[in-house]
Amino acid sequence: MALSSSNTYPDQTAKDETIGFGRKLKIAIIGTGGIANAHIGAYKKMPDVEIVAGADLIPGKAEAFFKKHGLEGVRCYNSDAELFASEHDLDGVSICTYNCQHAPCAIHALDAGVNVMLEKPFTVTTEEAVEVMRAEKRSGKILTIGFQPRFDLNMQMIKKICESGELGKIYYIQTGGGRRRGIPTPSGTTFIQKDTAGIGALGDIGCYSLDMVLNAIGYPRPLTVTGFKSDYFGKNPATYVGRGHPEYADVFGVDDFAAAFIRLEGDIFLDFRISWAMNMDTPGDTIILGTKAGLRIPSTDCWNGTVGGPMKIYHEVAGEQVETVIPIIEDRSGMTLFDKKIRSFLDAIIDPSKGAPVPSSQILYNQAIIDGIAKSDAAGREIRIEIPEI
Ligand SMILES: NC(=O)c1ccc[n+]([C@@H]2O[C@H](COP(=O)([O-])OP(=O)(O)OC[C@H]3O[C@@H](n4cnc5c(N)ncnc54)[C@H](O)[C@@H]3O)[C@@H](O)[C@H]2O)c1
Repeated sequence: MALSSSNTYPDQTAKDETIGFGRKLKIAIIGTGGIANAHIGAYKKMPDVEIVAGADLIPGKAEAFFKKHGLEGVRCYNSDAELFASEHDLDGVSICTYNCQHAPCAIHALDAGVNVMLEKPFTVTTEEAVEVMRAEKRSGKILTIGFQPRFDLNMQMIKKICESGELGKIYYIQTGGGRRRGIPTPSGTTFIQKDTAGIGALGDIGCYSLDMVLNAIGYPRPLTVTGFKSDYFGKNPATYVGRGHPEYADVFGVDDFAAAFIRLEGDIFLDFRISWAMNMDTPGDTIILGTKAGLRIPSTDCWNGTVGGPMKIYHEVAGEQVETVIPIIEDRSGMTLFDKKIRSFLDAIIDPSKGAPVPSSQILYNQAIIDGIAKSDAAGREIRIEIPEI
């Protein structure tokens, strides 16, 4: 049996029966909006995949989506519940619904015994993430969260630098990023309404910034948080006039800016801010301070899944203060980050001993920080981050 690695496509010249299970993997897509296009694009490149089913709450949307992508015979349903009531031999599902529908869809899928690729953010609240993880535990299936920047070689370099000991003991991290004006309304208001998105900049791009640094330092448990969030731009009709939709301000129900100070296990302090809209170009680069050296990671055009320029290590050599530039690493694999994200999911289905490429046990802490910021903001004070047992 020829197994593929997550950095290569399976051998396209091999017969299907030599790949994976000895048959094609049966995949479904739930939620056929914007990001589902990236999922289906990657699945279509994989010779060991057959897309057999899909669902969307909007009648006719799933049918039109698969037709647009040139796929015939895909069975379409009007909800995740309908899909799982009828489909009994799925190997995996991509859940591409808006944030508030991540938890219910993931729980349905896992309870149906189906491996799950769940788009980011994990969920809206910590409690939802815990419920999804309980379903994951019951099912014994793979649950991976869709953080494609994990597959970027420069992101991987950040982790290598932190793990190498080059920085010494890491004690302070400043991270985050943001846009001057960039409240996303690509498909109407699903990113900005409370009942669909649940969280705004925090869940859309904040989760990436947190993952970049937390993954690099081994995901220490978050202990306390002082958080603040605001919606000054989202609630202002002037923000949307250029897009011809001033009425979007009336339905804006999430954060467009957030900042927090988070205490992590291991005496590490995380200073974080994220923005969809502000009167500033960038809130600054990511910096990781250690006792032996510091690392500067230039901020990105929030968020394209990589670093914004060459990184720099600030350290001392023979008593002199010097800087070492880490050149940008080019990816010559020919695969996009999305291809790698989908391939790693398929590889984990084929060989579950590989485990989830982006495990829920890590992203639970990411979610607990995001949720902690919202809870601290509501309480108006620092709060202890409580994470229930799974
Ligand atoms: N990884 C990335 O780069 C990336 C980029 C954009 C969006 N996302 C994430 O993807 C998710 C979706 O974003 P989008 O832009 O595609 O949103 P969207 O609003 O365009 O699409 C979501 C679709 O899900 C459908 N849906 C919701 N609940 C459903 C259910 N229970 N059953 C069936 N269909 C259901 C909606 O009808 C809608 O068509 C968000 O959580 C977002 O954070 C990830």
